[in-house]
Amino acid sequence: MKKIVLAYSGGLDTSCAIKWLEDKGYETIAFIADVGQKEDFKAIEKRALATGASKVYVLDLQKEFVEDYVFPALKAQAVYESKYYLATALSRPLIAKHQVLIAQKEKASGIAHGCTGKGNDQVRFEVTARLMDPSLEIIAPVRIWEFKTRDEEIDYAKAKKIPIDVTKKSPYSIDLNLYGRSIECGVLEDPWVEPPEEIYKLTTDPQKAPAKPTYVEIELDQGIPVKVDGKKFKPVDLIHHLNDVAGKNSVGRVDMVENRLVGIKSREIYENPAGEVLHKAKYELECLVLDRETMHYKQGMSQKYAELTYYGLWETPLKKQLDIYFDKINERVSGTVRLKLYKGNCSVVGRKSKFSRYKEELATYGDKDIFDQKLADGFIQLWTMPFSAK
Ligand code: ARG
Repeated sequence: MKKIVLAYSGGLDTSCAIKWLEDKGYETIAFIADVGQKEDFKAIEKRALATGASKVYVLDLQKEFVEDYVFPALKAQAVYESKYYLATALSRPLIAKHQVLIAQKEKASGIAHGCTGKGNDQVRFEVTARLMDPSLEIIAPVRIWEFKTRDEEIDYAKAKKIPIDVTKKSPYSIDLNLYGRSIECGVLEDPWVEPPEEIYKLTTDPQKAPAKPTYVEIELDQGIPVKVDGKKFKPVDLIHHLNDVAGKNSVGRVDMVENRLVGIKSREIYENPAGEVLHKAKYELECLVLDRETMHYKQGMSQKYAELTYYGLWETPLKKQLDIYFDKINERVSGTVRLKLYKGNCSVVGRKSKFSRYKEELATYGDKDIFDQKLADGFIQLWTMPFSAK
């Protein structure tokens, strides 16, 4: 029997995939990646085995996720279409990498995932896997199986005695990891409909959020957040902590219509409390420490980085070159930013750094002023010179 390593979530699709692969003559090894989705991994492991997986791997990838995926994207200030902090997109190349490593270790003939043919995630899994090991067969059961509707899939699950409670399924499609939560489908498919409050899990209803603002101070060292309110945190704990503090103040909600790689526009809601705080803090620190030309030029690079991440091109040369570019820029991005979180708002109210380029004695209109106003006249004449026809 040929062996397949399946990225297993414990949900209906990937559970049916185990049985479906069995029907097609494959032995399935289930791979459960813990990227901070806070699930009962023991129960998911049991379900995989009860459904027919020959073996189960549960790997805690949280540390690697934050250090090698989330933080580089933060250093690059990568935000897709100005709104999406890429939580789901960043997790896929990591999961695919470990899936391939397991396949190689187990001498499996291929890998499988539960993505549909309409989304970005299939691309991210498969590009990463193909680049790492082109000899592996890739199976996407959901793209090719015979079930036309969800009800047919449920009938199949019942007939095959898959131990899953299908009544528990919400109308939404949700992806969760420690950096954020993505929600689509159901009423959200109409972009005119306001998201119902029930969809949110990481962020409090703003109307029930604290009546007084919460202040947080983030200390960054070369673009990496290291302390919150003066206390040192390990990367994973820092993200969990900020999700908690910012989520309580309803910070991090995003409602967007985005352009998928496959050409479809889709309406997605995101919750990324830690992501919003960190991106805002880091941007404001950059405003203080980077020179104007670097600041302006890198915007295009940030956008490119976000696109490459979104498009599944994480493991490609340009993305790796951009990492080096952003490492260089971030050499100066050290300092502390103070933010005010209040009923969904996250605003920076203070920033300081030993690398600050802000010079009060030049900016001030007060009596500390050392700026020589007479220099401006000559400067403007020369600035105009290349364009003057007379
Ligand atoms: N649109 C996001 C992306 O492509 C999230 C995809 C997963 N979303 C979900 N609700 N299952 O990265």
